[in-house]
Amino acid sequence: MVSDLSPIDTAKFVSAKRALDFVESGMRLGLGTGSTAAWMVRILGEMVRNEGLKVVGVPTSERTADLARQCGIKVATLDEVKWLDLTIDGADEFDANLNLIKGGGGALLMEKIVATASDQMVVITDISKEVETLGAFPLPVEVISSGWETTKALTEEALMNIDVMGRSGTLRMDRDRPFVTDEGNYILDFHLRRIGEPRKLSLVLNQIPGVVENGLFLDICDTVVIGYGDGNVEVRDINAGTVEHERIDVIERDNLFMDITD
Ligand code: A5P
Repeated sequence: MVSDLSPIDTAKFVSAKRALDFVESGMRLGLGTGSTAAWMVRILGEMVRNEGLKVVGVPTSERTADLARQCGIKVATLDEVKWLDLTIDGADEFDANLNLIKGGGGALLMEKIVATASDQMVVITDISKEVETLGAFPLPVEVISSGWETTKALTEEALMNIDVMGRSGTLRMDRDRPFVTDEGNYILDFHLRRIGEPRKLSLVLNQIPGVVENGLFLDICDTVVIGYGDGNVEVRDINAGTVEHERIDVIERDNLFMDITD
Protein backbone atom coordinates (compact mmCIF):
# COMPACT_ATOMS: atom_id res chain seq x y z
CA MET A 1 0.00 0.00 0.00
CA VAL A 2 1.50 3.34 -0.98
CA SER A 3 1.30 6.04 1.65
CA ASP A 4 -1.36 8.73 1.66
CA LEU A 5 0.63 10.83 4.14
CA SER A 6 0.32 14.59 3.85
CA PRO A 7 3.29 16.36 2.21
CA ILE A 8 4.55 17.59 5.60
CA ASP A 9 4.38 14.12 7.13
CA THR A 10 6.02 12.67 4.04
CA ALA A 11 8.84 15.19 4.46
CA LYS A 12 9.29 14.25 8.12
CA PHE A 13 9.09 10.53 7.37
CA VAL A 14 11.68 10.55 4.58
CA SER A 15 14.13 12.70 6.54
CA ALA A 16 13.83 10.33 9.51
CA LYS A 17 14.22 7.26 7.32
CA ARG A 18 17.27 8.60 5.50
CA ALA A 19 18.92 9.66 8.77
CA LEU A 20 18.71 6.08 10.01
CA ASP A 21 21.21 5.11 7.29
CA PHE A 22 23.79 6.60 9.67
CA VAL A 23 22.96 3.96 12.30
CA GLU A 24 25.06 0.81 12.70
CA SER A 25 24.51 -2.17 14.94
CA GLY A 26 26.11 -1.72 18.36
CA MET A 27 25.65 2.04 18.41
CA ARG A 28 24.58 4.11 21.40
CA LEU A 29 22.01 6.54 20.03
CA GLY A 30 20.56 9.79 21.30
CA LEU A 31 16.84 9.81 20.50
CA GLY A 32 15.39 13.27 19.90
CA THR A 33 12.00 14.70 20.73
CA GLY A 34 9.21 16.03 18.50
CA SER A 35 7.06 14.85 15.63
CA THR A 36 9.97 14.22 13.23
CA ALA A 37 11.95 12.39 15.91
CA ALA A 38 8.84 10.30 16.63
CA TRP A 39 8.96 9.01 13.04
CA MET A 40 12.63 8.21 13.52
CA VAL A 41 11.92 6.22 16.70
CA ARG A 42 9.14 4.27 14.96
CA ILE A 43 11.31 3.33 12.00
CA LEU A 44 14.24 2.50 14.29
CA GLY A 45 11.95 0.23 16.30
CA GLU A 46 11.04 -1.57 13.12
CA MET A 47 14.74 -2.03 12.28
CA VAL A 48 15.31 -3.47 15.77
CA ARG A 49 12.36 -5.84 15.56
CA ASN A 50 12.65 -6.94 11.93
CA GLU A 51 16.32 -6.64 11.05
CA GLY A 52 17.93 -7.57 14.38
CA LEU A 53 19.61 -4.17 14.69
CA LYS A 54 21.19 -3.87 18.14
CA VAL A 55 21.27 -0.37 19.59
CA VAL A 56 20.87 1.34 22.94
CA GLY A 57 18.78 4.50 22.85
CA VAL A 58 19.15 7.44 25.21
CA PRO A 59 15.87 9.40 24.98
CA THR A 60 15.83 13.18 25.32
CA SER A 61 12.40 13.27 26.97
CA GLU A 62 9.96 11.12 28.86
CA ARG A 63 7.63 10.95 25.86
CA THR A 64 10.42 9.74 23.59
CA ALA A 65 11.39 7.17 26.25
CA ASP A 66 7.80 5.88 26.34
CA LEU A 67 7.63 5.66 22.56
CA ALA A 68 11.03 3.96 22.28
CA ARG A 69 10.03 1.29 24.81
CA GLN A 70 6.72 0.72 22.97
CA CYS A 71 8.72 0.23 19.77
CA GLY A 72 10.98 -2.39 21.36
CA ILE A 73 14.11 -0.23 21.54
CA LYS A 74 16.44 -0.83 24.48
CA VAL A 75 16.51 2.38 26.51
CA ALA A 76 19.22 3.66 28.87
CA THR A 77 20.04 6.92 30.62
CA LEU A 78 22.98 9.10 29.66
CA ASP A 79 24.44 8.38 33.09
CA GLU A 80 24.44 4.68 32.25
CA VAL A 81 25.86 5.07 28.76
CA LYS A 82 28.08 8.16 29.33
CA TRP A 83 28.85 8.89 25.66
CA LEU A 84 26.97 8.36 22.42
CA ASP A 85 27.92 7.51 18.86
CA LEU A 86 25.12 9.48 17.24
CA THR A 87 22.11 11.62 18.11
CA ILE A 88 19.22 12.10 15.68
CA ASP A 89 16.82 14.92 16.53
CA GLY A 90 14.54 17.50 14.97
CA ALA A 91 14.91 21.29 15.00
CA ASP A 92 12.74 24.38 14.93
CA GLU A 93 15.15 26.38 12.75
CA PHE A 94 18.49 25.79 11.07
CA ASP A 95 20.82 28.09 9.14
CA ALA A 96 23.52 27.57 6.53
CA ASN A 97 26.11 26.78 9.24
CA LEU A 98 23.74 24.17 10.73
CA ASN A 99 23.25 26.26 13.84
CA LEU A 100 19.84 25.58 15.31
CA ILE A 101 16.99 26.79 17.43
CA LYS A 102 15.47 23.93 19.39
CA GLY A 103 13.07 23.54 22.27
CA GLY A 104 9.71 24.02 20.58
CA GLY A 105 8.75 20.72 22.17
CA GLY A 106 10.12 21.78 25.56
CA ALA A 107 12.93 19.22 25.75
CA LEU A 108 15.87 21.49 24.92
CA LEU A 109 17.86 20.79 28.09
CA MET A 110 18.27 17.05 27.63
CA GLU A 111 18.42 17.52 23.87
CA LYS A 112 21.45 19.77 24.26
CA ILE A 113 23.14 17.56 26.86
CA VAL A 114 22.60 14.41 24.79
CA ALA A 115 23.64 15.99 21.47
CA THR A 116 26.78 17.47 23.03
CA ALA A 117 27.66 14.05 24.45
CA SER A 118 27.55 12.50 20.96
CA ASP A 119 30.26 11.97 18.37
CA GLN A 120 27.79 13.12 15.73
CA MET A 121 24.45 14.94 15.62
CA VAL A 122 22.16 14.50 12.63
CA VAL A 123 19.17 16.82 12.41
CA ILE A 124 16.01 15.65 10.67
CA THR A 125 13.73 18.33 9.34
CA ASP A 126 11.71 19.67 6.47
CA ILE A 127 12.73 22.61 4.30
CA SER A 128 10.33 25.03 6.07
CA LYS A 129 12.76 25.14 9.02
CA GLU A 130 15.62 26.62 6.98
CA VAL A 131 16.33 30.31 7.66
CA GLU A 132 18.96 32.81 6.59
CA THR A 133 19.22 34.22 10.11
CA LEU A 134 17.99 32.46 13.24
CA GLY A 135 15.30 34.12 15.33
CA ALA A 136 11.94 34.07 13.55
CA PHE A 137 11.05 31.10 15.77
CA PRO A 138 10.77 32.33 19.36
CA LEU A 139 13.90 31.27 21.26
CA PRO A 140 13.04 28.89 24.12
CA VAL A 141 14.92 29.51 27.35
CA GLU A 142 14.52 27.02 30.20
CA VAL A 143 14.42 28.73 33.60
CA ILE A 144 14.04 27.74 37.24
CA SER A 145 10.37 28.17 38.16
CA SER A 146 11.12 30.10 41.36
CA GLY A 147 11.59 33.75 40.49
CA TRP A 148 10.84 33.24 36.81
CA GLU A 149 9.43 36.75 36.44
CA THR A 150 12.67 38.25 37.73
CA THR A 151 14.66 35.99 35.39
CA LYS A 152 12.46 37.14 32.51
CA ALA A 153 13.02 40.81 33.39
CA LEU A 154 16.79 40.29 33.73
CA THR A 155 16.86 38.53 30.38
CA GLU A 156 14.92 41.27 28.61
CA GLU A 157 17.33 43.81 30.09
CA ALA A 158 20.36 41.79 28.96
CA LEU A 159 18.91 41.61 25.44
CA MET A 160 19.27 45.41 25.15
CA ASN A 161 22.99 44.87 24.53
CA ILE A 162 22.55 42.14 21.90
CA ASP A 163 21.87 42.41 18.16
CA VAL A 164 18.25 41.24 18.15
CA MET A 165 15.07 42.83 16.78
CA GLY A 166 12.70 42.05 19.66
CA ARG A 167 13.10 41.40 23.37
CA SER A 168 9.78 40.29 24.82
CA GLY A 169 9.52 36.94 26.55
CA THR A 170 6.38 34.94 27.25
CA LEU A 171 5.90 32.16 29.75
CA ARG A 172 5.03 28.96 27.90
CA MET A 173 1.66 27.64 29.00
CA ASP A 174 0.06 24.21 29.02
CA ARG A 175 -3.62 25.17 28.83
CA ASP A 176 -4.18 27.31 31.96
CA ARG A 177 -0.95 26.40 33.77
CA PRO A 178 2.73 27.02 33.07
CA PHE A 179 4.31 24.32 30.92
CA VAL A 180 6.69 22.29 33.10
CA THR A 181 9.68 20.52 31.56
CA ASP A 182 10.75 16.96 32.38
CA GLU A 183 13.29 18.51 34.76
CA GLY A 184 10.60 20.54 36.56
CA ASN A 185 11.47 23.94 35.06
CA TYR A 186 9.56 26.60 33.10
CA ILE A 187 10.16 27.76 29.53
CA LEU A 188 10.28 31.41 28.46
CA ASP A 189 9.91 31.99 24.71
CA PHE A 190 11.72 35.12 23.54
CA HIS A 191 10.42 36.82 20.40
CA LEU A 192 13.71 38.08 19.00
CA ARG A 193 12.76 37.97 15.28
CA ARG A 194 16.43 38.14 14.18
CA ILE A 195 19.47 36.91 16.12
CA GLY A 196 22.50 38.76 14.78
CA GLU A 197 24.98 37.43 17.35
CA PRO A 198 23.98 33.89 18.33
CA ARG A 199 27.26 33.08 20.12
CA LYS A 200 27.19 36.22 22.25
CA LEU A 201 23.49 35.73 22.95
CA SER A 202 23.98 32.14 24.09
CA LEU A 203 26.80 33.11 26.46
CA VAL A 204 24.89 36.07 27.89
CA LEU A 205 21.71 34.06 28.43
CA ASN A 206 23.47 31.26 30.30
CA GLN A 207 25.08 33.75 32.70
CA ILE A 208 21.73 35.07 33.94
CA PRO A 209 20.80 33.64 37.35
CA GLY A 210 17.73 31.45 36.95
CA VAL A 211 18.48 30.48 33.35
CA VAL A 212 19.14 26.76 33.03
CA GLU A 213 19.80 26.52 29.29
CA ASN A 214 18.83 28.18 26.03
CA GLY A 215 17.63 26.71 22.75
CA LEU A 216 20.55 27.83 20.57
CA PHE A 217 22.51 24.79 19.35
CA LEU A 218 25.73 26.24 17.96
CA ASP A 219 28.45 24.07 16.36
CA ILE A 220 26.72 20.92 17.59
CA CYS A 221 24.97 19.67 14.45
CA ASP A 222 27.14 17.93 11.84
CA THR A 223 24.57 16.89 9.27
CA VAL A 224 21.05 17.93 8.33
CA VAL A 225 18.70 15.64 6.45
CA ILE A 226 16.01 17.74 4.81
CA GLY A 227 12.85 15.96 3.73
CA TYR A 228 10.49 17.18 1.00
CA GLY A 229 6.80 16.53 0.54
CA ASP A 230 7.43 14.61 -2.71
CA GLY A 231 9.68 12.03 -1.01
CA ASN A 232 13.01 13.59 -1.93
CA VAL A 233 15.71 14.20 0.68
CA GLU A 234 18.76 16.41 0.75
CA VAL A 235 21.69 15.53 3.02
CA ARG A 236 24.03 18.38 3.93
CA ASP A 237 27.24 17.54 5.76
CA ILE A 238 28.87 20.64 7.25
CA ASN A 239 32.24 18.97 7.88
CA ALA A 240 32.65 17.37 4.45
CA GLY A 241 30.96 20.31 2.72
CA THR A 242 28.84 17.90 0.68
CA VAL A 243 25.20 18.01 -0.43
CA GLU A 244 23.50 14.82 -1.65
CA HIS A 245 20.04 14.28 -3.09
CA GLU A 246 18.06 11.08 -2.97
CA ARG A 247 14.54 9.78 -3.29
CA ILE A 248 13.03 7.68 -0.49
CA ASP A 249 10.14 5.25 -1.00
CA VAL A 250 7.26 5.75 1.41
CA ILE A 251 5.47 2.46 1.84
CA GLU A 252 2.75 2.35 4.46
CA ARG A 253 3.07 -0.20 7.25
CA ASP A 254 0.33 -0.29 9.85
CA ASN A 255 2.54 -0.47 12.94
CA LEU A 256 4.55 2.57 11.82
CA PHE A 257 1.72 4.82 10.82
CA MET A 258 -0.43 4.53 13.92
CA ASP A 259 -0.51 6.91 16.88
CA ILE A 260 2.11 9.44 15.90
CA THR A 261 0.85 12.06 18.30
CA ASP A 262 3.94 14.06 19.13
C1 A5P B 1 11.83 19.55 21.05
O1 A5P B 1 12.11 20.18 22.24
C2 A5P B 1 12.32 20.35 19.90
O2 A5P B 1 13.63 20.75 19.99
C3 A5P B 1 12.06 19.62 18.60
O3 A5P B 1 13.19 18.95 18.15
C4 A5P B 1 11.66 20.60 17.60
O4 A5P B 1 10.60 21.35 18.19
C5 A5P B 1 11.20 19.98 16.30
O5 A5P B 1 9.99 19.35 16.46
P1 A5P B 1 9.15 18.83 15.22
O6 A5P B 1 9.92 17.72 14.63
O7 A5P B 1 7.85 18.35 15.85
O8 A5P B 1 8.94 19.97 14.30
